[in-house]
Amino acid sequence: MTTYKGIVLAGGSGTRLYPLTLSMSKQLLPIYDKPMIFYPISVLMLAGIREILIVTTAESLSDFKNLLGTGEDFGVEFTYVIQQKPEGIAQALILAEPFLAGSPCCLVLGDNIFYGQHFVELLNQATRVEQGCTVFAYHVTNPQRFGVVELDAEMKVLSIEEKPKQPKSNYVVTGLYFFDSTAVAVAKTLSRSNRGEFEITDVIRSYISNNKLNVSLLGRGFAWLDTGTYDSLLDAGHFVETIEKRQGLKIACLEEIAYRKGWLSKEQVIARAQLFQQNAYGKYLLDTAT
Ligand code: G1P
Repeated sequence: MTTYKGIVLAGGSGTRLYPLTLSMSKQLLPIYDKPMIFYPISVLMLAGIREILIVTTAESLSDFKNLLGTGEDFGVEFTYVIQQKPEGIAQALILAEPFLAGSPCCLVLGDNIFYGQHFVELLNQATRVEQGCTVFAYHVTNPQRFGVVELDAEMKVLSIEEKPKQPKSNYVVTGLYFFDSTAVAVAKTLSRSNRGEFEITDVIRSYISNNKLNVSLLGRGFAWLDTGTYDSLLDAGHFVETIEKRQGLKIACLEEIAYRKGWLSKEQVIARAQLFQQNAYGKYLLDTAT
C-alpha cells in the first residue's frame, strides 16, 4: 500500500486581509472556535496521513510551533520548513523534497476549509491511487479567481487554466491535491507564470498530458469555503458555528479525529481537555473521551 505524506501550505503574506495579518499568519486566524490551519490538517488526518510538513514563513514559524509542536498532542508528526518568499504552490513541492524522500503526497492549502458527508470515502479513493494525481472539482460562481477545469461528460479533464479571464466552465480545482512521487520532478521543470509564481496548475497539466489525472467531484451539499476576504472569513466562521451548535459535533477537532483513529489514548485526550478547563472545546474533548 502507498503511504502518502501530507503538506500544508501556510506561507504567504495575506495582504488581502491587512491589518488582520500584519503581525500574524493568515492561517492562524480564528474560524469560529479554532485556528484556520486546524481545518486543512483535519483533512490530512481524515485521509489517514500522520507525517505532515508545515510550510511557512520565517516570521511565523515560532507561532506554528507554539500551536502545533511536534504533533504528539494530535497523534501525528509535524515537520516544518520555511518558504522565504511566496513564489507559488508548486514551489512547496520542491521545498518538501527531503521530507517526502520519494513518497507520494497530499498537498493542502492552509486556508481551505472542506466539509461534507462522504468526504472520507473520496479521500480514501485518492490515497489508493498509486500512480497519478487526484484533484477535487467544485462548482463556483466566480471561476476567474481559481484554476478552472473543462470537463467532458465522463468527468475527464480536457483542460486546466489558472485564473482565466474567460473561464471555460464554472468548475474549479480546490486547494487539495494528491500527487504520486513524480510531482517533485515535474515542479522542478516549471518556469514562472505571468504572475511570477510556480503554478500548481502547470504540475496538474503535465498529469493531464500523461492521462494520469483523476478528478473527484465535490458536489451539491458539499462546502468548500474561502477565507480570503473579511467577508468570506466571517462567513466561514458562521458556517462552522451553525453546524457545530446544531449538531453538537465539531468540525476539524484534531484531538477528536486522532482519538477516533486510535492515534491518541483516552488518557491523552483527557489530559489535553484539562488545558482548556471549563470552556466548550475542553468539555467537548472530555465528552468525546469519557
Ligand atoms: C490557488 C491555485 C488555484 C486553486 C486555488 C484554490 O490559487 O493556484 O488553481 O483553484 O488555489 O484555493 P491562489 O490561492 O494562489 O490564488
